[in-house]
Amino acid sequence: MAAMSSVSGPHSLLLKNLNNGFFKTPSLPNTAHFIKPQSRSTKPHLSIITCATTQIQDLQTTTPKPQSQDRVFNFAAGPATLPESVLKKAESELYNWRNAGMSVMEMSHRGKDFVSIIEKAESDLRSLLGISDDYAVLFLQGGATTQFAAIPLNLCSDSDEVDYIVSGSWGDKAVKEAQKYCKANVIWSGKSEKYTKIPSFDGLVQNPNAKYLHICANETIHGVEFKNYPTPENKDGILIADMSSNFCSKPVDVSKFGIIYAGAQKNVGPSGVTIVIIRKDLIGKAQGITPVMLDYQIHAENKSLYNTPPCYGIYMCGLVFEDLLNQGGLVVVEKKNVKKAKLLYNMIDGSGGFYKCPVEKSVRSLMNVPFTLEKSELEAEFIKEAAKEMMVQLKGHRSVGGMRASIYNAMPLAGVEKLVAFMKEFQAKHA
Ligand SMILES: Cc1ncc(COP(=O)(O)O)c(C=O)c1O
Repeated sequence: MAAMSSVSGPHSLLLKNLNNGFFKTPSLPNTAHFIKPQSRSTKPHLSIITCATTQIQDLQTTTPKPQSQDRVFNFAAGPATLPESVLKKAESELYNWRNAGMSVMEMSHRGKDFVSIIEKAESDLRSLLGISDDYAVLFLQGGATTQFAAIPLNLCSDSDEVDYIVSGSWGDKAVKEAQKYCKANVIWSGKSEKYTKIPSFDGLVQNPNAKYLHICANETIHGVEFKNYPTPENKDGILIADMSSNFCSKPVDVSKFGIIYAGAQKNVGPSGVTIVIIRKDLIGKAQGITPVMLDYQIHAENKSLYNTPPCYGIYMCGLVFEDLLNQGGLVVVEKKNVKKAKLLYNMIDGSGGFYKCPVEKSVRSLMNVPFTLEKSELEAEFIKEAAKEMMVQLKGHRSVGGMRASIYNAMPLAGVEKLVAFMKEFQAKHA
C-alpha cells in the first residue's frame, strides 16, 4: 500500500480511500459496485467500473503487491485464514446475493437459491476430490468431534470390534468416544514418543474382525501426517479418516475409504460445517439409540437439509471449492503446499539446532509445522516480535508448548517467506 499512498494528483483522494478498504463509487446505487483495493493476492487486479479505474488499473498492475495493510498473516490452526479473494467475493455478495434481494444468511434453506448453493458446493467438491456416485456427501453440524460418536453409532452394534491408530491427540479423543458405543481398540499409539511418528503398516497387528480401521490423516496439534494409508486386514472392513486439518490440501483416492470426515474451519471454510463423505452402502445401519441428528441415513435422504443446515458456512465452503478449482485443482494446490512447507522445514533444519521440529521427517505435516526454540526462554519474545510484524497465532497448542505455524491452503507463499525471514533475523539477534 505504501506505493499507492505516495501518489498525488487528481486521483490521490480516491487512492487514499482505496487504502482504507473498498471504495464505493458515489454515482452508483448502493449495491456491489466496488473498486478493489490492492491486496496481497498475486493476480493483478482488474477493477470494474468508471473511467477513473483505468489509471488505477495501470497503477495496480505495475506496482509490486504488498501485503494488505489491514490483514495479518494468520498462522492459526483453526478457525484459520481464508483466501482473500473468497472473503472479498463474500463481502460483495453479503448484502444482496446475486440479486436475490437478501443475503445468504436470510434465505430459506429449502428455497431454490440456497438449494443451488448447496448443490454447487457438493458438485465442486465432487470434482475436486473425484468423488464417485457410490459416495454420499453430507454437510453437517457439530464439528468433527460429533463424528467421533456418529461413526460407531452408524456402523456398529455395541459388541462390534473396531481398530484405531492413535497418532496424536485427535485420534486419542476419537477412540475414547467410540469406546462408549462399541469395542474400540487402540492397535498402535505414538503417545510414548510424544506423537512424532506414524507406524509402519507392515508391523501393524490388526484385529481381523474389526469393522473399521480409523486414522487421523493429519494430527493438527503434533504436525504428523499420513503420507499413504493402511489397508484394513478384514476384507469386509473399511478405512475411516479424520481429515479435518488436511482436507482438500492434496489429491486423495476417496475409493480407498469408507468414510472421510472433516471440520471445515481449517482448509475449506468457517467453523460450523462438518463434511462427511460416506460410501452409500454403509448408510442405514445405525444403532437404535442413534440421535436423529447423528443418523447418516436421515441426512443422506434429505440431502443435508433434514433440519436447518449451517447455510452461510456451506455457502463459504462453496466459494472455497470454486477457488480451489480455479487454481487448477488439488494437484496444483498440493504443489503450492509442498513449496511452502519445504521452505519452512528447510529453515528449521538448517538453523543449526536454534529451531527444532520434533516430528520424524518422512511424516511431517504439510499443514501444521510445530517447532521449538533451543533457548525456550525466548519463545514468548518470538511470539511477541512476530505479532509486531503482523504474523499472529504462532503459539503451539497448550498441551505441547513451543510454536506451531499452520500453513493451510489459504496461507500465501508470501506469508511463509515472511515468517522464514523473520526467523532468520530472530536467530541472528539471539544466537
Ligand atoms: C484433526 C482434528 N480432528 C478433530 C478436530 C475437532 O474438530 P471440531 O472442533 O470441529 O469438533 C480437530 C480440531 O481442531 C482436528 O484438528
